[in-house]
Amino acid sequence: MSGPYDAIVLGAGGAGLFCAGVAGQRGRRVLVIDHTAGPGAKILISGGGRCNFTNIHTAPDRYLSANPHFARSALSRYSAQDFIALVDAYGIAWHEKTLGQLFCDGSARQIVAMLMAECGKGGVDFAFGKSITDVTHADASFTVRHGGTLSSAPALVIATGGPSIPKLGASDFAYGLARQFGLKVVEPRPALVPLTLGGDDVLFRALSGVSAPVEVRCGKAKFREAALFTHKGLSGPAILQISSYWRHGQPIAIDLLPDQSPQWLVEAKRARPRSTLGAVLGGHLPSRLADALAERIGLSGELANLSDRALLDATRRLSDWPFTPNGTEGFAKAEVTVGGIATDGLSQQTMEAKRLPGLHVIGEAVDVTGWLGGYNFQWAWASGWVAGQAL
Ligand code: FDA
Repeated sequence: MSGPYDAIVLGAGGAGLFCAGVAGQRGRRVLVIDHTAGPGAKILISGGGRCNFTNIHTAPDRYLSANPHFARSALSRYSAQDFIALVDAYGIAWHEKTLGQLFCDGSARQIVAMLMAECGKGGVDFAFGKSITDVTHADASFTVRHGGTLSSAPALVIATGGPSIPKLGASDFAYGLARQFGLKVVEPRPALVPLTLGGDDVLFRALSGVSAPVEVRCGKAKFREAALFTHKGLSGPAILQISSYWRHGQPIAIDLLPDQSPQWLVEAKRARPRSTLGAVLGGHLPSRLADALAERIGLSGELANLSDRALLDATRRLSDWPFTPNGTEGFAKAEVTVGGIATDGLSQQTMEAKRLPGLHVIGEAVDVTGWLGGYNFQWAWASGWVAGQAL
């Protein structure tokens, strides 16, 4: 038996490490258990090795959840500015890349080292490399069997994330444990994930490697960023963003020329009557894409010979190009998981289970999923911080 502990945190990712450090520094005796060999596997590879650790535009409407208001409390109590202040206190240099996304100038390893230093200040214990085989609750105490060891504490924090990228140690462990303790799980789906194309759209796979700034829409969601054609379908930031909102069978619409007016092809005909549609499109889009679109639209020859109506129709198609993905590249390629442990069983102030005092759930395991761009780490820090304050 190891201990005694005030709290056991399952999972040494961003949420678990941060929560453990906060609770430890408040005088709690904390044990963190993880089945991988070391801490922060996803942090280390995030942001291309530079960790996009937060976003200065963090706001609840940039998160998906069955309860869109749930994240509000934690996000406002522990803000992006709070995390930036911590990063600054450790002298970690950073820069804004685009759209409020903050990255380390150096390496994601600095963030993991910072989180481990925070845990060190709180005297946190670690148990790495052992599978958790059993978790029980009796007499107001949780007991965790990991390897041959039993550890107990009156508080347990589930911080084992979602099943995205299993080869990094990700698992659906959180969901089974949550169900064991009477919490519901909102169907988990791969999110921030490339989409695959079939049917007629397969022809677009020939454009693999071509990227363009577009506006992509699905239902009420829309994003204006780059889209990338791949040998399987579509990727790039705009597509990853919309994938979190996409459901099987739904079309997505792409405005391939979001900066052009509805009249622009008619105006192009007046200005350059001898040009072809492919050539005019090629002034705004990569030429391979321009040629493929012109061929698909089926308007050949000089613009002078095409009617205004045909050009207006072409503009309409280009601004609302429908793709119906036949799937996603799945959890193996998904940056996050949408869905997860249902928020209705949790307190939004403390992340504690309403029906089981002492049980907390934080980070990606919860049905709160951020946009691409540092929002998911900010949720890990914020949910970890509020739980750490309550332990
Ligand atoms: P996380 O998954 O980080 O940690 C869970 C921990 O639990 C892991 O250490 C795991 O080993 C452990 N665990 C799982 N199952 C277990 C079991 N059965 N027993 C014991 N331990 C178990 N976000 C962002 O904001 N900015 C970014 O730049 C990126 N970049 C990025 C790149 C890539 C490739 C991926 C896959 C993801 C991102 N993300 C991101 C998303 C971000 O990494 C993610 O949302 C957070 O890491 C979630 O933190 P958690 O601590 O909740 O889970």
